[in-house]
Amino acid sequence: MSHLVLSHVTKRFGRVTAVDDLSLSIEKGECFSMLGPSGCGKTTTLRMIAGFEDLDEGELSVGGQLLSSCVRNYYVPPEKRNFGMVFQAFAVWPHLSVWDNVAFPLQIRGLPKSEIAERAGRAIRYTGLASVERTFPNELSGGQKQRIALARAIAINPSVMLLDEPLSNLDPKLREEMRFEIKDLQRQFGFTIVFVTHDQTEAMALSDRILVMKDGVAQQVGTPLEIYRRPASRFVFGFIGLSNFLPVEVEGGSAWVEGAREAGPFPVSTGGVPGRRMTLACRPSEVGLSRDTGVLGTVRRRAYLGDTVDYRIAIGAVEVRVQKNRREAPFGEGEPCRLSFPDPIWYDRE
Ligand SMILES: Nc1ncnc2c1ncn2[C@@H]1O[C@H](COP(=O)(O)OP(=O)(O)OP(=O)(O)O)[C@@H](O)[C@H]1O
Ligand SMILES: [Mg+2]
Repeated sequence: MSHLVLSHVTKRFGRVTAVDDLSLSIEKGECFSMLGPSGCGKTTTLRMIAGFEDLDEGELSVGGQLLSSCVRNYYVPPEKRNFGMVFQAFAVWPHLSVWDNVAFPLQIRGLPKSEIAERAGRAIRYTGLASVERTFPNELSGGQKQRIALARAIAINPSVMLLDEPLSNLDPKLREEMRFEIKDLQRQFGFTIVFVTHDQTEAMALSDRILVMKDGVAQQVGTPLEIYRRPASRFVFGFIGLSNFLPVEVEGGSAWVEGAREAGPFPVSTGGVPGRRMTLACRPSEVGLSRDTGVLGTVRRRAYLGDTVDYRIAIGAVEVRVQKNRREAPFGEGEPCRLSFPDPIWYDRE
């Protein structure tokens, strides 16, 4: 049975429907991410799970126990849910040391001193704060404060961890390290994690499954690979990873980039192409680049991104982004080249 279940959950703020008929089942021990642009309803969903926001429609339960129900007018308050939460605008208590910040929620729960020491100590060690445990937050960096919030959530030994952009104040390197640490913590403690981010790389790296949202509406739920390889819509395709959308015309087994007949056709498997005027979607890393086969293009710009070369290539008036390893990228700016699209996804023209 699924651990955390949202059933037809809707939340409105005046005229804005922040979350619209959302149904989800999250398994015990799963790391589940919610991903989507700013304002799409991620925080609101998390706050409803935590119990800080009531529901306008639907129900929410954990481990078979009802937590919120609109029709039954039933609601378990946040402090009774035993969920750990790290907020987007994380709050640490400035007048308490790191240690006390982490121990305080345990004291409120009236746990024995020895257990508080053990749990707080462990959470502080796991988040790498042991050397600063007597320090006050105003002497710490943004990243360290964020770790306090994380340690505090871990210490209460929650069944579900709700993390709202918990890594947003960290520099890229620390951010990457913390990703692994969160994953390790999850394995160690067996939490169910609901993780909110608008960083798709972070969601891909951490999650067992990802929900992509737009305007309060679920667009797709799937594993990182499913979302990346089989995006349900053009929106999801564009949101996950780099993308090209080319307007093409399809005839028989061939396709042309619109407005660029002179660049020549490229073969397509018509089985997968339902219409005539279509959008071809592909990732920059998946475009084939050669001297002799494919559609004719001209290199407009070339930039080195470490080991990868990032090309902007013009086919008529259409620009295609192509990324290749340095060794497979001999083309200079202004040079002609040939492009192929071995594994595209087709969308109807909007
Ligand atoms: N307390 C509130 N009162 C009125 N409107 C709100 C309130 N909280 C959220 N909203 C609105 O609900 C929508 C969803 O907001 P939410 O904070 O859930 O987005 P988000 O996906 O977390 O965005 P971000 O990535 O910027 O944090 C937005 O249109 C927002 O303006
Ligand atoms: Mg938010």
